[in-house]
Amino acid sequence: MISRRKKSFFPGAKAIFLLFLILAAGATLVVASRVSNLMKPNIGPNDTNFPQSNRPIQPSGPNPCSYVPGPGHCKAPSDASSSIQHDSQCSEDLLVHSVFILPWYQNPHKGNPVESDLRRFSVEFNLPGISMASTMLSLTSATPSASLSMQEILKGKARLGSGTGSTLFNKEKGNPFIKEKSFGRISMTVAVNASCFEGIAMAPPDPILGVSEAFRADTDAKKLNLGVGAYRTEELQPYVLDVVNKVSKLYLSNWYIAERLMLERSENKEYLPIEGLAAFNKVTAELLFGADNPVINQQRVATVQGLSGTGSLRLAAALIERYFPGAQVMISSPTWGNHKNIFNDARVPWSEYRYYDPKTVGLDFEGMISDIKAAPDGSFIVLHGCAHNPTGIDPTPEQWEKIADVIQEKNHIPFFDVAYQGFASGSLDEDASSVRLFAARGMELLVAQSYSKNLGLYAERIGAINVVCSSADAAARVKSQLKRIARPMYSNPPVHGARIVANVVGDPALFNEWKAEMEMMAGRIKNVRQKLFDSLSAKDKSGKDWSFILKQIGMFSFTGLNKTQSDNMTNKWHVYMTKDGRISLAGLSLAKCEYLADAIMDSYHNVS
Ligand code: LMR
Repeated sequence: MISRRKKSFFPGAKAIFLLFLILAAGATLVVASRVSNLMKPNIGPNDTNFPQSNRPIQPSGPNPCSYVPGPGHCKAPSDASSSIQHDSQCSEDLLVHSVFILPWYQNPHKGNPVESDLRRFSVEFNLPGISMASTMLSLTSATPSASLSMQEILKGKARLGSGTGSTLFNKEKGNPFIKEKSFGRISMTVAVNASCFEGIAMAPPDPILGVSEAFRADTDAKKLNLGVGAYRTEELQPYVLDVVNKVSKLYLSNWYIAERLMLERSENKEYLPIEGLAAFNKVTAELLFGADNPVINQQRVATVQGLSGTGSLRLAAALIERYFPGAQVMISSPTWGNHKNIFNDARVPWSEYRYYDPKTVGLDFEGMISDIKAAPDGSFIVLHGCAHNPTGIDPTPEQWEKIADVIQEKNHIPFFDVAYQGFASGSLDEDASSVRLFAARGMELLVAQSYSKNLGLYAERIGAINVVCSSADAAARVKSQLKRIARPMYSNPPVHGARIVANVVGDPALFNEWKAEMEMMAGRIKNVRQKLFDSLSAKDKSGKDWSFILKQIGMFSFTGLNKTQSDNMTNKWHVYMTKDGRISLAGLSLAKCEYLADAIMDSYHNVS
């Protein structure tokens, strides 16, 4: 904000001052045009007349083309804007675009207007007792700097040439511009750090997806990506399921057939309804609960297509935030890293229940039960339907029953995350048994589904949120609110993945083919699991028991390696994994098991 502190004048000073003002304005125009000429071709990082330390930093990204970064907005300072006109045109280079005459009087270094205007380039004339900021030149493409913080700028540290001598164009430096001045002091403030987004710090890489970025940057031939939970072939290549290829061909490869089919089936590219593709919603709920489940027959399930597992969880989190204010969400310790992000972003409070026992590298069942018991009544208990991520440790059927007992006693609401149906055991029904057990007790529950892993539709972002209610009427109301939440978030979901799922699950022949492929994928993971265990057991003479690897299920193995040991896996062995010690066996081949066993042995025994 520009402050206008008026100074009192001695009598008659007004006239003299006005004269000075006119002269100053005129002089400034000359100065400005000189500066403009001087700067136009030269000022920039490569300008040899520009002192190295004071050269503006060339924008490294797209020119933000914005104006003054003020608190929370990007525009000219409000009290300057009435008197300042500016050229809104943006330029790639540092060019002087406009000359402004500012009729205010003040010491520019106390309560200084330039403090708030980071884009200005000012020429100031110091007269005895009066300092007059008379001319300002707007640098429309002033440069962002990675090295200066907003605070530094606001403290004025970023100004080049403030105070009594300009470091940029002062006499001592022999700048031709200053030689033509006959009076006054000239100081120039060159804008740096012009971005409106200066206050935004660099976000840390995602703990899971960031691992893939680091993997891609590694040029070592031995590198192995066991970070992300994505299925690879034995050749470590991404895998598109045959059934998906078959269905996709209807849409993609053979365009005239696709065109005809689309017309026949009315499969156009119109918006889907907010709740998604009806055929998808039908089959996804049936796949989860079983087509003949009473919850389906009684229309007690509110199903809304979501943006895979994450998007579906996020819809439910928003529902909790809106309709269960203050309710506690309990997540397992550890859990999939994104669970915390999702509830944090939805502003839903969460706490953890014990799950993993490092001593046994198994389930801390007693801890889990006692923490769920201790949670406030009516809490939401997040459970992994199968193939717990990251541990790969699932409760036994008997343990599931006990978990359901406690949840029922406490009037908690189970909230399942089912991201691996069919992928854990190889059987769709078996992997849904935990969810079905709770539904069979007549409990109300939430279930998020994902088709990223089991149908390999990672990039299609296809999944669903299902809310089982005690009545069809409640389900209809819940569904209406889920749609209300989805509408401002993303309006309505994408269609392609939904059609694939609907076609595969809805066609008996394709469905059977899919089940066979899933068994094949789950089988390949079981094979590498076994081979890794065999390799470790054969190599390790210390007596350590590696059998926990075989007890775990699904894509992951939780190795028990700590962060330093995991770092060693990556830095020394080029094995990319998450820092919690999780490895994705879906990214491992039989051929690489020996190498991985060597890396694990070294990290486990030689790094603490
Ligand atoms: C994983 O846990 O690796 C996957 O679910 C991918 C992801 O989005 O984190």
